[in-house]
Amino acid sequence: MLFDVRPKEDRKDLYDRDKEIDEIKESVERKVWIAVYGMRRVGKTSVVNVAVNDPKYLVIKLNLMRIYNPKKKRYPKSSFISLFLESINEVIKKYTLGGRLTRLISNILGIDENSFIEFNLVKIRARLKRFRGDDVNSVVRELDLLAGDNKKTLILIFDEAQELMKVNGINFSSIFHDIYDYCKNTTVVFTGSSAGILENMLKSLEYEKPFFGRFIRRIRIEKFDERLSRDFLLKGFEEEGVKVTEDVIEKALKRFDGIPGWLTFFGSEYSFRVKHGEKADVEIIEKMAIEEVRKEIRDFILGTQSPERYSATILALDRLGGKGSVAEVTKVVNTILEEVPEPRIYEILNRLVDMGFIEKVGDEYFLPKDEPNRKGLVLASKDVLASPS
Ligand SMILES: Nc1ncnc2c1ncn2[C@@H]1O[C@H](COP(=O)(O)OP(=O)(O)O)[C@@H](O)[C@H]1O
Ligand SMILES: [Mg+2]
Repeated sequence: MLFDVRPKEDRKDLYDRDKEIDEIKESVERKVWIAVYGMRRVGKTSVVNVAVNDPKYLVIKLNLMRIYNPKKKRYPKSSFISLFLESINEVIKKYTLGGRLTRLISNILGIDENSFIEFNLVKIRARLKRFRGDDVNSVVRELDLLAGDNKKTLILIFDEAQELMKVNGINFSSIFHDIYDYCKNTTVVFTGSSAGILENMLKSLEYEKPFFGRFIRRIRIEKFDERLSRDFLLKGFEEEGVKVTEDVIEKALKRFDGIPGWLTFFGSEYSFRVKHGEKADVEIIEKMAIEEVRKEIRDFILGTQSPERYSATILALDRLGGKGSVAEVTKVVNTILEEVPEPRIYEILNRLVDMGFIEKVGDEYFLPKDEPNRKGLVLASKDVLASPS
């Protein structure tokens, strides 16, 4: 169903994106590493899921949103290792891989094989400290061999990979180099909503030996244009058997600005309400989406060094009609807070761009055009200025 709000897995549930899927598949066939970029909710996870949903591939998905915490600057090593082992465990079960791999991991952890297969959290958690970066490599090398023996390609997906940079005590650069050097049946896929931050991570990887000179292919997932958005909504409502007026479609197109996640959320919620005889209107659903963003952004702002300055910067952009240069933003910020130097505002604006919350075109910074993101950002900033802790 097009309006299913979880990330899509099957081609039939994913609207459009043929080109992106082809690009990913072709890169995988050539063992070219890929980075899939795009704003939050544009469909990165869905496109990657659908592209790798093929029996030719052995797929390990590391969903780093599972360890994501906007209030934390760093994550302990154990949270990554635990996520890694859980993903390996899923794969062992899904492809019935057992044997050597299970033995290898339970040996490192110092637990019996059944405890790993059953994923006995008490036993595993107590032993996570034993698992080091090198052990991650041994496991990936073993998987690479297994994939090769079965004439498959191993695909390692790091979903929201910018979060890797916050993990303590693991040298990911060395892990990626090891995979690149020794795992000939393996390709790596990164996705990231915080484009600037992911890009920094990839660049440093690309410029180090032995990677040097090999480029990671960037694939950008864009919002739907108006024609696609309209068609997506019409097809989705048809699938749901729900009739909607042109007026409703128009409103939704205007407010959600082609962001697939919002269109899906809107379609799903609207259909549910119609089917259950509840009040269905665009405003109510838009509000729900705004609240979601408001909470996310508030958590992010509160996790920064200077929550008030971040908030004032966002509010300044809003007061400038949603766009402005550093100088303009600084002027407005200084009517909200006392003297904040321009270089500091410049840093904050660029950090917001790197995180994917606002955009930069030329020398100007822009708030997002869709209502949930724009209003969510503004409300979160007001929340923080009203009670900054
Ligand atoms: N092309 C698409 N067709 C149908 N639904 C989509 C499409 N792209 C995204 N979605 C939906 O939008 C939401 C966000 O997608 P997701 O893949 O999680 O985005 P991202 O990983 O970029 O944050 C999900 O509900 C997903 O089902
Ligand atoms: Mg995602």
